[in-house]
Amino acid sequence: MFGLKKEINKGRSWKRLEKQAKRMRKIEMRDMFDKDLKRAEKYSIKFDNMLLDFSKNLIDDKSFSALLKLAKDAKVAERIEQMFAGNKINTTENRAVLHVALRNKDNHPIYVDGKDVMPEINRVLAKIKNFSEAVRLGKFVGHSGKKLTHIVNIGIGGSDLGPKMASEALKKYWAKDIQCYFMSNIDGTACVEILNKLDPETTLFIVCSKTFTTIETLTNAKTCRRWLVDALGEPAVAKHFVAVSTNVEEVAKFGIDTENMFEFWDFVGGRYSMWSAIGLVIAIAIGYENFEKMLSGAYAVDKHFKTAEPAKNIPLVLALLSIWYNNFFGIRSHAVIPYDQYLCYLPAYLQQLVMESNGKLVGRDNKFVRYQTAPVIFGGAGTDVQHSFFQMIHQGTSMVPCDFIVPAISHNEIGEHHEILLANVLAQSEALMKGKTMSEAAAELKAAGKSKEEITRLKKYKSFKGNRPSNIMVFKKIDPYTLGMLVAVYEHKTFVEGVIWNINSFDQMGVELGKQMALKILPELQGSRDGSKHDSSTKALISYIRRLRR
Ligand code: F6P
Repeated sequence: MFGLKKEINKGRSWKRLEKQAKRMRKIEMRDMFDKDLKRAEKYSIKFDNMLLDFSKNLIDDKSFSALLKLAKDAKVAERIEQMFAGNKINTTENRAVLHVALRNKDNHPIYVDGKDVMPEINRVLAKIKNFSEAVRLGKFVGHSGKKLTHIVNIGIGGSDLGPKMASEALKKYWAKDIQCYFMSNIDGTACVEILNKLDPETTLFIVCSKTFTTIETLTNAKTCRRWLVDALGEPAVAKHFVAVSTNVEEVAKFGIDTENMFEFWDFVGGRYSMWSAIGLVIAIAIGYENFEKMLSGAYAVDKHFKTAEPAKNIPLVLALLSIWYNNFFGIRSHAVIPYDQYLCYLPAYLQQLVMESNGKLVGRDNKFVRYQTAPVIFGGAGTDVQHSFFQMIHQGTSMVPCDFIVPAISHNEIGEHHEILLANVLAQSEALMKGKTMSEAAAELKAAGKSKEEITRLKKYKSFKGNRPSNIMVFKKIDPYTLGMLVAVYEHKTFVEGVIWNINSFDQMGVELGKQMALKILPELQGSRDGSKHDSSTKALISYIRRLRR
């Protein structure tokens, strides 16, 4: 019902794109810009407070319309409708996929198994509002009556990356007296380094885990619980621990009063959950009103995604461009570079969103796919990364399409800082597109007074092939609404890619094997069981590490 009848790479639109890619390989972007003075206008989309300029891509009318045709043939529009309607498009887990319901601001009913999910969502949103306000106003206080000012989010993957990224992105909106911490890694260092900064009397732990069985989260939560109980005694737990989960039983078993539990539902995937109670830490930090603005920004993009014509549909266009390079140019990576320090965790967040959603090799038709799926996503804040991996992006042997995210106004406008930052991002995108020919490099060397021999020796090193693609997304400022928009754009982009690749973007079975094996290795490392069934490398490593730890 949700898959394609025919493998997408056997269809006419795929074949057409193969031809188009062959043709486009011979075309230079700088020539296309020279020939068409309206290129930027033509390949830009303005929506709400966001501008996407995708003109610096290897596309022209023919190739772009061939991409749009691919979306049509893959039935993207129908799949969008199915997702928003609450159909069980997560077929391997038989679940609906309704993170969009969490920000359904007009509150229209959405049914799963004949039941409208909105009343439950609204109930939990009201609970988030009440609780976050009570903490911020000092009405919900710690065991000894002190205000809770240190909020520790304990969670991993989707129960960490979204809240952490969004809280950092919106740091300017934090209440002055509130500090947030994110404890995710099982590494004791992560736990100890945070606990060392805290005072038990003023600390609130939010244990976030969809399943409430994740070993990292539960181990960290147990350690924190012990730390708190040692300082304040068992009765303090009710005032210092809350849980966010879909699993009431496990929360109760852990010893958190289910009154202090915020629910969400199996129709919300972990990596799509920052809009749910998993975002509680965000609501406490920035206030519920701002949290709602974030939901509104995402909702605006949801409506855009559902209704905008394909050529003007931001998530759809971004997905098609990504597929263009991934499947027709053999490109295996994609960089996301926000030119805003507050967005420094966005690339890590997107790594999970994109690679956990679409890093798959079995299609919805239960056959192995015979084309590339998710690229490697990486990135970091500009301008920092210009001084690390940009050498490769400009002169490496493979092209790396980039997304540049640019707020026109900084939250910290001091001196020329932001203008220099902006000049850099615009320069990077232009440089990637234009490059520098060998004769241009030679002319520059000549102007710098270099000898003929030196010019001959250096001009190749100093040249840039150019023709390297990038998208620029410009916002006015990264505020809660804008952040909501930005994240929703990437969620829907990821969705469209999954639809076209005919995979289920909403399970994550690939993370299970390593987890299972770690559980077997643990007692072997601890010496309570023998590791005879391992390969010789694992076996030797277990005994070597055991010797070192003795
Ligand atoms: O890494 C696998 C995963 O299941 C992610 O999908 C999820 O975000 C993370 O673990 C945490 O899971 P939970 O919220 O259930 O603790």
